[in-house]
Amino acid sequence: MNEETMGNLTIRHNALCAEEFILLWESVWGKAPSLEQTRLAMAHTLFRVSVFDGDRIVGMARMIGDLGLDYYIKDVIVLPEYQERGIGRHMIRELLRFVEENGVPGTNIAVELCAMPDKIPFYEKFGFRANEAQRLRLMYEVKES
Ligand SMILES: CC(C)(COP(=O)(O)OP(=O)(O)OC[C@H]1O[C@@H](n2cnc3c(N)ncnc32)[C@H](O)[C@@H]1OP(=O)(O)O)[C@@H](O)C(=O)NCCC(=O)NCCS
Repeated sequence: MNEETMGNLTIRHNALCAEEFILLWESVWGKAPSLEQTRLAMAHTLFRVSVFDGDRIVGMARMIGDLGLDYYIKDVIVLPEYQERGIGRHMIRELLRFVEENGVPGTNIAVELCAMPDKIPFYEKFGFRANEAQRLRLMYEVKES
């Protein structure tokens, strides 16, 4: 884990835990996934960024993928009262720096994400562009054994 500061805020790398993830998720999106699912997800995330005001988590973002071909940005959240202060921008830049540091030199790498229409202008600021592909999703129910 490493740490840097942004004004009074602390930025942490690879420290985001499942409990913090759930807290932030529920602050904007309602009921979060289970602790067990979230712990597994944190353990298998390539790179996690979290932002703290003192000991309060106020922002998170994570990058999943395979390092070689595919990088995918997930779960970018800033607490409502901390939005519009540059935290989201800082986190996206950190995720893109991770690609810069880990991608195969001399190659072009697709970094993807899924965004609601009202968030597209935020991502366009970093160069993301929507294409004609549509997101297909199946919420697969894993049966109890
Ligand atoms: C989207 C989100 C992460 C942006 O974070 P933020 O910390 O408020 O963003 P920043 O303050 O870093 O904004 C950076 C720039 O994007 C702009 N911006 C932020 N949200 C925007 C939006 N929804 N539409 C257009 N521009 C936006 C800011 O005005 C700023 O512009 P500037 O560079 O011209 O000054 C935040 O609003 C959020 O957490 N929303 C709820 C969760 C969510 O929907 N996440 C996205 C999932 S796809």
